[in-house]
Amino acid sequence: MRDLGVYAEVAPSETRAGDLAGRRGIIVSGGPASVYDAGSPTIDPQLLRAGVPVLGICYGQQLMAHLLGGTVQRGERGEYGFAQLEIASDAGRIFREIAPRQQVWMSHRDLVTRPPEGFHVLARTETCAVAAMADAAKRLYAVQFHPEVAHTPCGTQILSNFLFDVCGCATDWDPAGQIQGVEDRIREVAGARSVFFFVSGGVDSTVAYTLCLRALTPERVHGLYVDTGLMREGETEFVRANFAALGAKAFAVHDASAEFLGALAGAVEPERKRHIIGEEFVRVQQQTLDSEHYLDGHWILGQGTIYPDTIESGGTAKSELIKTHHNRVAGIQRLIEEGRIVEPLANFYKDEVRAIGRELGLSPALLERHPFPGPGLAIRCLCADGGGGLENDGGAPEKSPDGWVLPVRSVGVQGDSRTYRSVLAIEDFPASQEEAASLINRNDRVNRVVAEVWTAAPVAQMRARPAALSRERLARLRRADAIVRSMTHDSGFDHFVWQLPVVLIPFGLDGRPDSIVLRPINSVDGMTASVVRMPKGLLAEIAAQLKAVEGVAGVFYDLTNKPPGTIEWE
Ligand code: XMP
Repeated sequence: MRDLGVYAEVAPSETRAGDLAGRRGIIVSGGPASVYDAGSPTIDPQLLRAGVPVLGICYGQQLMAHLLGGTVQRGERGEYGFAQLEIASDAGRIFREIAPRQQVWMSHRDLVTRPPEGFHVLARTETCAVAAMADAAKRLYAVQFHPEVAHTPCGTQILSNFLFDVCGCATDWDPAGQIQGVEDRIREVAGARSVFFFVSGGVDSTVAYTLCLRALTPERVHGLYVDTGLMREGETEFVRANFAALGAKAFAVHDASAEFLGALAGAVEPERKRHIIGEEFVRVQQQTLDSEHYLDGHWILGQGTIYPDTIESGGTAKSELIKTHHNRVAGIQRLIEEGRIVEPLANFYKDEVRAIGRELGLSPALLERHPFPGPGLAIRCLCADGGGGLENDGGAPEKSPDGWVLPVRSVGVQGDSRTYRSVLAIEDFPASQEEAASLINRNDRVNRVVAEVWTAAPVAQMRARPAALSRERLARLRRADAIVRSMTHDSGFDHFVWQLPVVLIPFGLDGRPDSIVLRPINSVDGMTASVVRMPKGLLAEIAAQLKAVEGVAGVFYDLTNKPPGTIEWE
């Protein structure tokens, strides 16, 4: 809705109709539950009787039918993926300016089998007789398919029809137009106090910091960047230069790399590494708060929290893990409890934060950066102790009918569960992504498949060996990552991917103990991801440069979608 220029908020399903008085329209979203399950989410039925236009999507359609006396049943089979929608000729307003046959995206098993009284069926698919329905007199509309995803090309038109024709909204929202109001609010919250930030160097914390700089004076906005020793090449200098360009006067870099790397010295297992990093963050933050008097009454804490972080179900599971650690910092907890906190971006989505950043004149190099995980290179530098981190004792790959099963395990996700399995290496790129997927389905010992791009010796002769998060290995990964970043940037390929992790795995030869894996993917929110293939010429050039990196024995290309592979290898 906001992309269409109309202000919209997300509210929990328990919200009472009375609390939504004055809204011009309500959308009831999809969700994984079944309306007949005990405890499944529902809405205040008064919302459907208040005379306000309502659009139900997927579960929202089923809920509307259920609450108004229609019938919802479990389908004989599910409908997942593309479907052909046939729209009735008298479908009316929400299908205005839309051709009668459309491709739409479906993801459901339950369906409405009998609409409530007063409703008309507006559209159908082969599997779903009630793919859209409406009681136009009461301004209640519902669709079983998902108009909000890119796979439903007419979806934006449907949402726009609902917003402007049915609800009668006018455009009233432009994130860049909010800057003045946000700055006023910062001044109001801060009063005579100053603001202190732990900045990551990423888009959110930098934009939040900049807004405070503008609202207050540079002397009153302190920022601390913690160098964990797990950052990419040039990162600390990049962040320092950005803050200098913003006019920050009280910006400091705290080098905690010795503490982080010391604490991580013997860690191999992915979750253990994450835990240690979280604990270290807590320690450094508490130490800073204690030693710099930021806890006294002259200070409030600034944070780059954005809107999805404040929505109950938002955030990725793993970023949550890191954030729980942050939240547990007693000093921060105290500041939050005392209301001594300012979150200038708490009302904005990521794209809106970028728009505000552009309006503030922040550099495109900062605003268009790929997302980078908080634990940094630690989760892209795989470790092994000869036991837990290795699949088989000798550390040798095993021949399988499809290729080589490497003695290296990585994290994956299947169903809703985490997996930790071996990697299948194949000699050539398969003709299609389906072929790559079927290789994983055929081999239940693996959760990933990679293609060999270059190896210094045949894979059969390479071995996995014990390896830690040492400065030496991090430097190797940092170099490889910098090469890949610079070459994909210069060629423009970085615009075709959402993220491009470069991973170091402890699989190589004497004198060249590690290999590099390239993982270019596309994604909308990191929850699912699809592999992106790089042009052959570019891949050859990158491999030629990676060959020259000290200690590197091979280059592989990850061909695994998420699921079953996660984006990070851990
Ligand atoms: P996975 O590996 O779960 O990653 O497929 C999904 C997205 O989340 C990012 N990621 C993180 N981001 N802190 C973050 O801020 C974290 O601890 C973290 N772990 C993973 C990952 O880079 C990808 O974009």
